[in-house]
Amino acid sequence: MKFPKIGMGTFGSDKYDELTVAHAVEYAIKAGYRLFDCASVYGNEEQIGDVLKNAFDRGIVKREDIVVMSKVWNDMHGEGDVAKSCEKSIRDLKTGYLDVYFVHWPFPNYHAKGCDVTSRSEDSKPFFAEDFLRVWRQMEDLKDRGLVKEIAVSNMTVAKMKAVLPYCRIKPYAIEMELHPTFQQKELYEYCKEEDIKIVGYCPLGSPNRPERDRTEEDIADTELPQIKEIASRHGCHPAEVCIAWAIGKGHTPIPFASKERNIDNNLKVEKDVILSEEEIQAIDALDCGNRLIKGQVFLWKGTEDWHDLWDEDGTIADWRFENNVWKKQGERK
Ligand SMILES: NC(=O)c1ccc[n+]([C@@H]2O[C@H](COP(=O)([O-])OP(=O)(O)OC[C@H]3O[C@@H](n4cnc5c(N)ncnc54)[C@H](OP(=O)(O)O)[C@@H]3O)[C@@H](O)[C@H]2O)c1
Repeated sequence: MKFPKIGMGTFGSDKYDELTVAHAVEYAIKAGYRLFDCASVYGNEEQIGDVLKNAFDRGIVKREDIVVMSKVWNDMHGEGDVAKSCEKSIRDLKTGYLDVYFVHWPFPNYHAKGCDVTSRSEDSKPFFAEDFLRVWRQMEDLKDRGLVKEIAVSNMTVAKMKAVLPYCRIKPYAIEMELHPTFQQKELYEYCKEEDIKIVGYCPLGSPNRPERDRTEEDIADTELPQIKEIASRHGCHPAEVCIAWAIGKGHTPIPFASKERNIDNNLKVEKDVILSEEEIQAIDALDCGNRLIKGQVFLWKGTEDWHDLWDEDGTIADWRFENNVWKKQGERK
């Protein structure tokens, strides 16, 4: 598969409606984007599908020249559900097949579109390798059936990758992870590079329009950092473009979303117009400070209110057991 150096995201952040995002995709295809990151949970695949079909019918782009990615949502991990979800995404996107299909999050649960940060699903569960592998078997089946060209993971950690990789008959082709100058996930990044898993960086600009539920007071805005602004002024571009140039310079694929035509154009042009020096890349490398923006609070299970519990920060997967109707972390009994 020819995997472009930059793609476009399609999450409307609960702020841009379906048609606004679809219009952005329509404009982006004409501008020359050849990679689109979709997901059933974004609620706009039907509208994006209309745009894609129109582009194929009118010969603006050929199906085989475009990479279309989608993801199975957390409430479709059950037996048989992954195929149902994939088939629906293919129907909605009107692409005949998907190029890459991701497990969106490695936790089963449900939360409603637009819910606030305190929302919790009764069905939420911690990560268990066996649960994940049951989902992965269904993903492998989709590839065997030719519904998808490649299967992939998202929102994983090194510990989770190590726990499941030895048992994957088909290795993940790609990983989608939060990746921007102040959040570089260096250990996971290096691990995936060594494993030859393609890295797709989400929220590459620090998601300035992300939903309220994903904002906390400590969050740092990458595009406001003086070092990024200074590099931007040197190159005569917007700080957002510096974030993209850094990603391309590092060799992973950023998938910025933009609704404004000017931003869509500028982001695509970064590959040719904003080439950072090795010193500039190193200066941005040094900005990494663990500034996770998509913390995943809504995926927490009964028994914890700490989003750090989702991310295996000590390098291990905690041992959670369900006791007396609540999840308890072993060794930390309350
Ligand atoms: N796998 C996952 O769990 C996961 C999680 C989050 C996101 N994602 C994917 O990653 C994609 C990108 O993340 P994101 O949309 O949250 O954040 P982002 O791409 O970091 O930021 C998007 C915002 O930046 C603004 N922007 C874009 N280009 C700009 C430019 N050149 N100058 C100034 N501002 C610019 C846009 O504003 P305008 O709209 O005004 O143009 C847009 O609202 C999503 O759309 C989604 O596909 C995946």
